[in-house]
Amino acid sequence: MNQTKTTSVNVSLGDRSYPVHIGQDLLGRGDLMLPALVGDQVAIITNTTIASLEGGCYLESVRGCFANQKVDVYDQLPDGEQHKSFANYQAILDFLMQRRHNRSTTLVALGGGVVGDLTGFVAATFQRGVGFVQIPTTLLAQVDSSVGGKTAINHPAGKNMVGAFYQPSAVLADIDVLNTLPLREYTAGLAEVIKYGVIEDPDFFAWCEANSAALAERDPQALIHAVKRSVEVKAAVVAEDEREQGRRAILNYGHTFGHAVEMLTGYTRYLHGEAVALGMVAAAQLSAVQGRVTPDVVERLIDLLKAVGLPVAFPADLSEDAVLDAMGMDKKVLDGRQRFIVADSIGSVQVDDAVTSMQLRSAIAQAVLSK
Ligand code: NAD
Ligand code: GLY
Repeated sequence: MNQTKTTSVNVSLGDRSYPVHIGQDLLGRGDLMLPALVGDQVAIITNTTIASLEGGCYLESVRGCFANQKVDVYDQLPDGEQHKSFANYQAILDFLMQRRHNRSTTLVALGGGVVGDLTGFVAATFQRGVGFVQIPTTLLAQVDSSVGGKTAINHPAGKNMVGAFYQPSAVLADIDVLNTLPLREYTAGLAEVIKYGVIEDPDFFAWCEANSAALAERDPQALIHAVKRSVEVKAAVVAEDEREQGRRAILNYGHTFGHAVEMLTGYTRYLHGEAVALGMVAAAQLSAVQGRVTPDVVERLIDLLKAVGLPVAFPADLSEDAVLDAMGMDKKVLDGRQRFIVADSIGSVQVDDAVTSMQLRSAIAQAVLSK
């Protein structure tokens, strides 16, 4: 156990505040886990891939934290975004009822954003709300989905269409588990890390530039800093606007373009983080088209994304009309107006709901040319 490397960030939400512990060798840390339990029942929820990683060691380490609790393990969730579904929501509820879990149970989500979002929605709704702990195992989940309380399942008509705001009582981000992540999944998570620099922290963006090689190589010290700073930025935004009435929207920088790319490519060509990288470039180009930033700001973003291995060229085979259409269908449309997050500089963004289709076309055309 390497307790010296653990650092914690508090998500400050009054009596629903919680710690995000970040470090190495955390999966077996009962001392961090047990204070977050609401009673003596625990259900660990994970998917079939994560359950078998490292010979089942991740799951066994987590289970080992609960020697004095009644522990059940639901490890038959199939892997994949399509399984963040009503069917699996019901299957987990069935499991909890069969195993006689009651209101004082705690659900422990061990996995990426899919496991976390699904488990969180079960936790929010089973018996009107039970305990919830997140153990995010992807970089994206550590810096984004496990923090802030958005939980959801998908509806055939759209992703994340059914959900709840429901905060966990603790998050344990063990950066060691990122070593087994496929490279593409890992790199996709770096898009969200870079996003935090763009939206809020120019020094962190510069740190990412200086440490891009260490980040790409999963250097532990670099990762601890990157996850910590990302979580600090997200926690501050969430503390100010938990339910996305205003400022929290800045966390969606690049996402409106990114969602359109994902949708138009059938969710198969790009991972979410890769689409966010393309979306961030398009959003930066939009900011340049509006005269908010100079072209060198866009170049800095492109250079950093490329340095860590992310794609930067907006797909040329998507017509501007199709992209505009897809963005018009995005659920973040407010009163018929599309909201875009635009940059005023690296480290400062704002919401703009008066973007014209001409500006969008011009931004997309520029983003297609990114090299
Ligand atoms: P994911 O959960 O599908 O995980 C990616 C892949 O990595 C999966 O195959 C998974 O089994 C595997 N995996 C997970 N941990 C591993 C490890 N340590 N080693 C090896 N393989 C591992 O994808 P994701 O990118 O983590 O999350 C995407 C989901 O998150 C989407 O459903 C998205 O809607 C959601 N999301 C939610 C929020 C939020 O605020 N709640 C924010 C962003 C994204
Ligand atoms: N991923 C955006 C948010 O949590 O608000």
